[in-house]
Amino acid sequence: MIPPADCALGLVGRSPRIAAVRQLIEKSARNRVPVLLLGETGTGKEVAARAVHNACARGQFVPVDCGSLVGTLMESELFGHARGSFSGAIENKKGLVELADGGTAFFDEIGDLPLEMQVKLLRLVQEREFRAVGSLQWRKVDIRIIAATHRNLKAEIAAGRFREDLFYRLNVFVIHLPPLRERREDIPLLVEHFLELGRAAGLHPFSPEPEIMELLTSYDWPGNVRELKHAVDRMAAMYSASGFPAYALPSVLQNLMAESAMRHFSGAIESTAAAPVEDFRVRPPSPVFSIPETEKATIRNALSAAQGERAKAARLLGIGRTTLYRKMKSYGLTCE
Ligand SMILES: Nc1ncnc2c1ncn2[C@@H]1O[C@H](COP(=O)(O)OP(=O)(O)OP(=O)(O)O)[C@@H](O)[C@H]1O
Ligand SMILES: [Mg+2]
Repeated sequence: MIPPADCALGLVGRSPRIAAVRQLIEKSARNRVPVLLLGETGTGKEVAARAVHNACARGQFVPVDCGSLVGTLMESELFGHARGSFSGAIENKKGLVELADGGTAFFDEIGDLPLEMQVKLLRLVQEREFRAVGSLQWRKVDIRIIAATHRNLKAEIAAGRFREDLFYRLNVFVIHLPPLRERREDIPLLVEHFLELGRAAGLHPFSPEPEIMELLTSYDWPGNVRELKHAVDRMAAMYSASGFPAYALPSVLQNLMAESAMRHFSGAIESTAAAPVEDFRVRPPSPVFSIPETEKATIRNALSAAQGERAKAARLLGIGRTTLYRKMKSYGLTCE
């Protein structure tokens, strides 16, 4: 179980970077100024947005997916519409902004909001008022505004895709969610957290071997925490008593695993003058299914490179003869 201090506010992690994010979230609860969450994809912007809302929970948390607000219905989706304002508008309808009244509106992927909607949002952020489609009346709302994006908004402004005035209105209380590769110390904790969630959902409980944890910690995770969560879920779903197959790992990790097995064994070969080494070194150790299977295939390759001579194969592998015999026995390998 993860100690409560390491998953406070729903944010798992004990790195100084995550501790700083937590502090900012707590500070944000002291006022109702807009909060802007920035960070690469999968870094936890939505988790942080919910934490900001929960830190001074009032009313509902209403997510608005700005990327999906396209076409003619987007304005009505956001601000609602009056009956008869367009064909199909058979009754008054509340929009997301009104639903969030008294609570929080979370404008997710704000960088994807079309320009014509940005001007309407500006009014909402500035004056806390909006007008439903087909209505002449401005309505006041009391909402907390949180926005998030993985985009570089300054670059978007320079490209003419984002309004500068809206940017300055939103850029008041900014929280940067750091990429996972800059806080690797959180990875084991996150893995444990996702395994715990998996267990609760009925997945096979398991704890990754140290080699696997090392692999998970050394990878850069371009998709950040989301990518790590998917990898852990996949591993848990495919786990069985004999371990989990390496194809449960993202393919980049399978490659890393193969490379590290290769490095280990080819390092051993370099220290010997064995003749048929070339052939052994260029061949991948196996299609890499799991650490035991990688090992088994590597031993088989070494035996074949040593033309069945066990002492030579042991030398190639850099292990003792008895260890090799024991491993051959346990893997059911012979010298043919
Ligand atoms: N610190 C964290 N602790 C626990 N779970 C986390 C943390 N950060 C992210 N997650 C989990 O990772 C996944 C992605 O998080 P989230 O949706 O908040 O990312 P995001 O930054 O909004 O991504 P995107 O930019 O792609 O929308 C979710 O399943 C979320 O629960
Ligand atoms: Mg998100």
